[in-house]
Amino acid sequence: MLTEDKLRQVQQLVADFSASQLIWLSGYLSGIAEKDALPLLSQYQEDVLPQVVSELKLTIAYGTESGNSKKVATNFAKQAKGLGIQTKLINLAQYRLNDLLKEEYFISVISTQGEGEPPESAKKFYDYVEANTSILYNLKFGVLALGDTSYPLFCKAGEDIDLWLNRQGATRLVALQRCDLDYDEVAEAWFKNVLDLLNIAQPVKHSLLPEIKKTAGKIIYEGTLLTNNNLNDRGSSKRTHHIEILSENVNYQPGDSLGIVPENPEKTVNAILQLQLLNPGKIITRGDESQPLNVWLKKKLNIVYLSERIIKKYALLTGQDIPDTRMGLLDLLKIYPVNDAVQFEGVIQLLDLITPRLYSISSSPVLHENEVHLTVALEKFTTNHELLHGLCSDHLINLEVGSILKFYIHKNRIFKLPADDIDIIMIGPGTGIAPFRSFLAEREARNATGKNWLFFGDQHFTTDFLYQTEIQDWHQTGLLTCVNLAFSRDQKEKIYVQHRMFDHGAELYEWIVRGAVIYLCGSKDPMGIDVEHTLMQISAVFGNQINPEAWLENLSESGKYLKDVY
Ligand SMILES: Cc1cc2nc3c(=O)[nH]c(=O)nc-3n(C[C@H](O)[C@H](O)[C@H](O)COP(=O)(O)OP(=O)(O)OC[C@H]3O[C@@H](n4cnc5c(N)ncnc54)[C@H](O)[C@@H]3O)c2cc1C
Ligand SMILES: Cc1cc2nc3c(=O)[nH]c(=O)nc-3n(C[C@H](O)[C@H](O)[C@H](O)COP(=O)(O)O)c2cc1C
Repeated sequence: MLTEDKLRQVQQLVADFSASQLIWLSGYLSGIAEKDALPLLSQYQEDVLPQVVSELKLTIAYGTESGNSKKVATNFAKQAKGLGIQTKLINLAQYRLNDLLKEEYFISVISTQGEGEPPESAKKFYDYVEANTSILYNLKFGVLALGDTSYPLFCKAGEDIDLWLNRQGATRLVALQRCDLDYDEVAEAWFKNVLDLLNIAQPVKHSLLPEIKKTAGKIIYEGTLLTNNNLNDRGSSKRTHHIEILSENVNYQPGDSLGIVPENPEKTVNAILQLQLLNPGKIITRGDESQPLNVWLKKKLNIVYLSERIIKKYALLTGQDIPDTRMGLLDLLKIYPVNDAVQFEGVIQLLDLITPRLYSISSSPVLHENEVHLTVALEKFTTNHELLHGLCSDHLINLEVGSILKFYIHKNRIFKLPADDIDIIMIGPGTGIAPFRSFLAEREARNATGKNWLFFGDQHFTTDFLYQTEIQDWHQTGLLTCVNLAFSRDQKEKIYVQHRMFDHGAELYEWIVRGAVIYLCGSKDPMGIDVEHTLMQISAVFGNQINPEAWLENLSESGKYLKDVY
């Protein structure tokens, strides 16, 4: 790779460098050259690593949103302990960041959320690793990245951590492994490799860019739409639909969500086809999938609101100067046209796939056998004074009864009902009510003895009390021990669920002390943040907690405070 001359120059430069200076320099160079320089560092460290390690200490740290990474990491820890390895299993939320400098063997199992982001609980660790300037020359690590190939930034959080740790001088004990939703076998094989390597206590020689094992992906169900009703009354500013889907043998638990890939609007697809850049029936191959152009545009590719990243790629491909912006493919093609059909085919190659949208399941598999219910709010927003609707919510609420739709189940292993005799507190304004309808139906069907307390809210009592009859019936029959409602716009002062919680703070705190589990679902910001502040305030005022933040963190860590916010 280097000419003899260049190599001699480098050798002269580093001749009197100590081992740690060399490692620092490697990290520095890799920072400049990113991927290109990384193998040098790994190679060098392989040479200087000890051949035999005694008293091996392994840390397995997970970052999770819906529990998959925790499940995998826990299984790894069990196996390692079973082999007599001193193993620490820890949630990245609890991980003391400075400990990274002291670690010897460090395995991270981490999922990707949002648009290529780490799980919320792993954010502090992620940011720390990105910004860290210490040299981690003692650290031998491996990253197992959980993700979903339907998302454009597949396993991005895991990739980042792998890259950053290596850049800081840490050695890959094992290559990064990216996993799709059916991660079990791949994860198992990967960890077996880790254990083998730990056994011989030597890092492997491996290529920097490991092969991503192709997996089967998720189970896709097919369902028939049974019901699609607006739950809001006339006069409401909102539109929230109760949707029932019939699907035999669908397998889910209360707390899980349904994932769906929406189709693009017919009008937009036709307008793109009318530009006559290519024949609608022309077969186009992307990766290992071949489809006619019109199918790619209708069902597969994100064409409605392209990310800045994709628009940059478009600008590069078409050789045009396009400012940082977001827009739909149709506008892009009109404002910044492609040269010819060949270039248009190139554009089809660079577009992202349509990302799935998730909806909390609002039915119970026990009570509503072979059915899945959803509570879908129409997403409304304004751009350039034009009122627009969200792609998937618009698609779903306009589906006709009898329509066939494909979906998958997104399991949430954390947001789950406790044992039947445990009390629960559910805070779920707006569509946040969805999983609690499922919880309540399930508890009713199972004759669960634990008490149930619901906080619900929306804008107006008369038009926006979602599932009013069911909630009132459940209260009357005693399934719901307490119900507190907050309709923000029915009076001058805005009243939200967190105000109702504080009004009942003493009793709420009492329930928590007696072991109730608190559940929170709905919008992350501001609702989720405000409710969390109120919980802490309640602990201080009604429970004399001196450190409310630590109190809430404890609850969360012990599985007594669970949230599913979006
Ligand atoms: C775990 C989980 C559970 C969920 N549960 C529920 C639930 O029970 N019920 C529910 O209703 N939702 C739920 N959601 C939210 C749901 O997944 C979707 O995010 C929501 O329906 C919006 O999707 P959409 O396709 O309709 O909107 P999108 O088309 O994705 O639009 C989203 C936003 O992108 C921007 N945008 C999109 N297009 C344009 C454009 N052309 N110009 C400018 N800006 C644009 C706007 O800001 C818009 O508000 C949940 C989410 C998660 C993660
Ligand atoms: C809202 C949301 C966004 C997601 N975004 C991504 C993403 O950008 N890239 C990716 O590879 N996977 C993404 N995923 C898929 C998750 O990483 C995948 O479901 C994983 O198994 C979750 O693991 P966890 O339960 O440990 O959090 C997303 C999932 C959800 C629910």
